[in-house]
Amino acid sequence: MDKLVIEGGKPLSGTIVIQGAKNAALPILAASMLVEGKVMLDHVPRLLDIDVMLNILRELGCEAVHEGQTVTLDTSTANSSHIPEALMRQMRSSIFLMGPLLARFGKVTVYQPGGCAIGERKIDLHLQGLTALGATVEEEGSRIVCCAGRLKGTEIHLDFPSVGATENIMMAAVLAEGMTTITNAAREPEIQDLQHFLNRMGAKIIGAGTDTITVEGVNRLEPCRYQVIPDRIVTGTVMVAAAATRGQVTLQHTNPVHLTSLIHVLRRAGVQIAVDGDIIKIGSSSRPKAIDRVVTSPYPAFPTDLQSQVMVLLALADGVSVMKETIFEGRFKHVDELCRMGADIRVDLNSAFIRGVSRLYGATVEATDLRAGAALVIAGLAAQGKTVVEQVHHIDRGYDRIETMLGRLGARIQRVPAAMDDRVYR
Ligand code: EPZ
Repeated sequence: MDKLVIEGGKPLSGTIVIQGAKNAALPILAASMLVEGKVMLDHVPRLLDIDVMLNILRELGCEAVHEGQTVTLDTSTANSSHIPEALMRQMRSSIFLMGPLLARFGKVTVYQPGGCAIGERKIDLHLQGLTALGATVEEEGSRIVCCAGRLKGTEIHLDFPSVGATENIMMAAVLAEGMTTITNAAREPEIQDLQHFLNRMGAKIIGAGTDTITVEGVNRLEPCRYQVIPDRIVTGTVMVAAAATRGQVTLQHTNPVHLTSLIHVLRRAGVQIAVDGDIIKIGSSSRPKAIDRVVTSPYPAFPTDLQSQVMVLLALADGVSVMKETIFEGRFKHVDELCRMGADIRVDLNSAFIRGVSRLYGATVEATDLRAGAALVIAGLAAQGKTVVEQVHHIDRGYDRIETMLGRLGARIQRVPAAMDDRVYR
């Protein structure tokens, strides 16, 4: 497995253009299965998760080409709705292919995606939604077979505003007969992007971004070309890295509105942030201030996907902060690794008590999941000395060559491919 070797202590500076949003591109790629024809998507980042989704679409009979940041799909040749278990286990988010495949083929076979490092990742809300639309669901071991004639619109209330379940139900409802209303829907920007994409193809959806989404079923959709929104989590990750290294960074092609909660937290920590259209300027020249309490919650509140990154900043703050994680039960796996770099953090149930220290020290650490890995990179950039981050494939799922991106801001970071001799970075 590749490693990242980081020489810390250098403030980031310069300008960076933010990649397209992984968590918008994935459901939009899945939604492309609702239409027969050529779909083109721009600003799709080159990531492991995108590669897996494109391989699944090819496995289902589609043609899929990713050139630069543009994906060209031909879904007219799709001839299967059976997603291989091995591919599902590579990326659990493939579960939101269920809705589109069920709507198009009347049957879909998937496999329990299983949990991951951050939690159990249940899919009961997805299955309840599809059942409400008239599907039958049979579970045989890990295999799930879902069948339906034409789905029928209905009212669906989500016990929890699940992002994936909201997206799956939206996509299934697009070709259903009649009206579907989803209440307690998730409100993330990626759901708004999915609505815009589907409506561009002729769907009739309103309400994405609010807790009530209404879908009026239509008989067919027309292919389109669409540009995916900027990645708000990658934007936030770079912002935290700039603050943690006391740098000065300009981020282009962002959507600051999607980061209101993070900007609020960083300003409370004493970080200077200026917003001008799709540009964010961020700078910090002093030690961050502690924040008594940061709680992760569904959008528009503070996002769980930026929890581990902000924890690194608070680990360097002047004082004690508390971070509470309410979305995923296993999202503190970066804490032990940060403590090995000199952080003073104690976890009690779903709260982390962070006593800021003046300095972190380089160490060899292991990424356990995507955002924890990103947090360890930020810690390495801020630490004194050399940090080696192992299991970098977790990071590559969501960041397009993170070492190139940060290197453009002056970071001293290099990727050591697995095959190379480990003497390279001693
Ligand atoms: C999406 O995951 C994102 N992934 C995650 O980003 C993000 O952390 C999460 O939303 C929350 O914002 C993509 O969009 C591809 P959920 P998703 O369904 O849809 C429980 C990243 O780092 N739940 O909102 O899987 C679940 O167990 C990734 O880019 C059920 O109980 O998230 C979890 O505790 C990580 N039953 C909570 O809801 C269900 O049927 C949130 O899950 C579904 C979910």
